[in-house]
Amino acid sequence: MKILVTGANGQLGKCLADVFQASEHDVVFADRALVDLSEPEHICQKLDNLKPDFVINAAAYTAVDKAEAEPELAQLINASSPEAIALWCSANKAGFIHVSTDYVFDGTATRPYVETDSVNPTSVYGKTKLAGEIVVLQAYPAAIIIRTAWVFSEYGSNFVKTMLRLGAQRDELKVVADQVGCPTYAGDIAAAIKDIVLKVADSGRDGGVYHFCGDKAVSWFEFAQQVFAAAKEHGVLLKDVVVQPIPTSEYPTPARRPAFSVLSTAKMLDSFGVLPSDWQNALSHVVSGVRP
Ligand SMILES: NC(=O)c1ccc[n+]([C@@H]2O[C@H](COP(=O)([O-])OP(=O)(O)OC[C@H]3O[C@@H](n4cnc5c(N)ncnc54)[C@H](OP(=O)(O)O)[C@@H]3O)[C@@H](O)[C@H]2O)c1
Repeated sequence: MKILVTGANGQLGKCLADVFQASEHDVVFADRALVDLSEPEHICQKLDNLKPDFVINAAAYTAVDKAEAEPELAQLINASSPEAIALWCSANKAGFIHVSTDYVFDGTATRPYVETDSVNPTSVYGKTKLAGEIVVLQAYPAAIIIRTAWVFSEYGSNFVKTMLRLGAQRDELKVVADQVGCPTYAGDIAAAIKDIVLKVADSGRDGGVYHFCGDKAVSWFEFAQQVFAAAKEHGVLLKDVVVQPIPTSEYPTPARRPAFSVLSTAKMLDSFGVLPSDWQNALSHVVSGVRP
């Protein structure tokens, strides 16, 4: 099987490279020089040249705050190009896994979101990712969309790495305590995707939206506390960092984020037998620099 992974240099792209290392499949990792999602008009030609049997779209416009000022570019990357990929995959009978976000929800729920819950994104990023979900499934109902959340890894930039950097510079940090979600290790998303690709290729599966995220919900404040506890335990930080909880109103950002974006992963477990991300175990490995 020839598998094309877009977004080769992102957190998920790099974790996909790890999990597909030494696989029997021919996996092509495309950075933006090879497949540029800001140019949907060229996607079909690129895919005609590459001829994948399966596409995993790990590329996205992920700068949540910056997207508020660049909605057209975010739309091209998060919706128009995924639609072009879906159309090509549909016409060429290729599998397609597209990745989306918990930020399609407005955060007013009081229990974990299931896939059929109403969406209502509060940011440009969330709106363009939702638009991507809709056009992908319209173009190709067999496509699989994986909504994930609060992604961290040893690669790229993410909350864990930001906390470790700030913790090395300061003794005290203020972190938002009224946004709750599920941290997710990108390596676990990559392993789940590999599992799903093999199952879809083997016996086919229903297209649609599936949730995959970490198994325990926390606030950003609690997440930060756990990062520093792991850093202390592994000798990465030799001092205590005091984390002060603050409300979102004390940390204004251009994009409005959901207060509660916990996702239920029951459908993923039922459909693919894939367990949610054991993110606390992964955090320990990421902080200590030892691969899970
Ligand atoms: N990060 C999170 O907390 C989070 C939460 C929920 C859902 N997600 C979703 O999970 C998926 C993977 O996210 P991630 O954390 O791995 O993101 P990431 O680390 O920011 O990586 C995104 C990748 O997309 C690439 N990209 C951006 N614009 C592109 C373009 N015009 N053409 C081609 N590639 C382009 C980037 O390329 P460069 O390396 O060249 O910049 C980068 O490699 C995305 O669909 C994202 O929406 C992420």
